[in-house]
Amino acid sequence: MPLYALLKSKGPTGFSYGSTAADVTAGASLAGKTILVTGCNSGLGLETMRVLATRGAHVVGAARTKEKADAAAAIVGGKATGVACELSDPASVRGCVAAVRAMGAPLDAIIANAGIMALPKLNQAFGYELQFFTNHIGHFILVTGLLDRLADKGRVVMLSSAAHMMAPKGGIQFDNLSGEHGYKGWTAYGQSKIANLLFAKELARRFAGTEKTANAVHPGVINTNLGRYLGIPAPIAALGYGIANALFLKTIPQGAATQCYVAANPGAAAISGQYWADSNIKVPRYDAEDPALAARLWEVSERIVAGLE
Ligand SMILES: NC(=O)c1ccc[n+]([C@@H]2O[C@H](COP(=O)([O-])OP(=O)(O)OC[C@H]3O[C@@H](n4cnc5c(N)ncnc54)[C@H](OP(=O)(O)O)[C@@H]3O)[C@@H](O)[C@H]2O)c1
Repeated sequence: MPLYALLKSKGPTGFSYGSTAADVTAGASLAGKTILVTGCNSGLGLETMRVLATRGAHVVGAARTKEKADAAAAIVGGKATGVACELSDPASVRGCVAAVRAMGAPLDAIIANAGIMALPKLNQAFGYELQFFTNHIGHFILVTGLLDRLADKGRVVMLSSAAHMMAPKGGIQFDNLSGEHGYKGWTAYGQSKIANLLFAKELARRFAGTEKTANAVHPGVINTNLGRYLGIPAPIAALGYGIANALFLKTIPQGAATQCYVAANPGAAAISGQYWADSNIKVPRYDAEDPALAARLWEVSERIVAGLE
């Protein structure tokens, strides 16, 4: 338990910075529910899959390869099924959509958890900057491909980040989605994470009049494999993380709490279009609330995806 957690009080939901995924799902029976989690083989995705399976859900875990997904599914107790989903490869994402559809059961939640962070140099997929493509476009293809399989009260949970605050001015650089007209790793990560938030906003707008929900979450800051692209030498990283872990970093069970709350706690069932952190509603950067920007990103994403076919 980081020292900082002891200073944080409970929010209106009754949970706080220090709550774990097990805490926010305590008492919940997810028997009969099917929940899809991307990035299931590592960090927050693995803990999310483990806890939701413990509560009785059938968790469909997606990873870059079937082998990774199956290995993750095998180590969680309960019912878990692995599927391949390489988010930077539209054919793989469509294969995942087909595999999940073939399972037949409606999806009670989709947790779009997988992600990459702050690549120091520009990488691309299909001519688009790789973080935007992986974190946003890959999940756009996946979630929109499964919308008609979402249960009547189904919940879509997008992993955003407080780093959405680092997105460029205006939120999305529509004239630089390739990254070729200027690239900074953290700015590109911020752009991909504000895209996750805007996607949830626009999806929530499209869900209006139904009982389906779409929300975005910031999980906290947690020492997972997410920092692997930063290139910090191992001894320095170990020292830095050791100190930070003790002071303020969340543990992985704490980091997985907010997405599990929004996906599975009855308290979030009727709440849509919000940004959450510490299992409570928070206010994101002003332009993440801009419905015109959210609608434009959706239209541009549809055009990008159509251009890949
Ligand atoms: N940790 C934090 O402090 C923090 C803070 C804010 C937001 N987040 C967000 O939380 C989410 C989970 O991150 P984490 O901390 O658990 O990181 P992690 O341990 O690195 O896990 C990320 C997961 O995403 C998968 N992934 C990466 N690229 C992929 C691709 N192209 N196709 C399919 N899967 C891919 C990884 O698979 P491989 O293992 O095969 O690469 C891994 O399973 C991310 O969306 C991240 O942006 C994390």
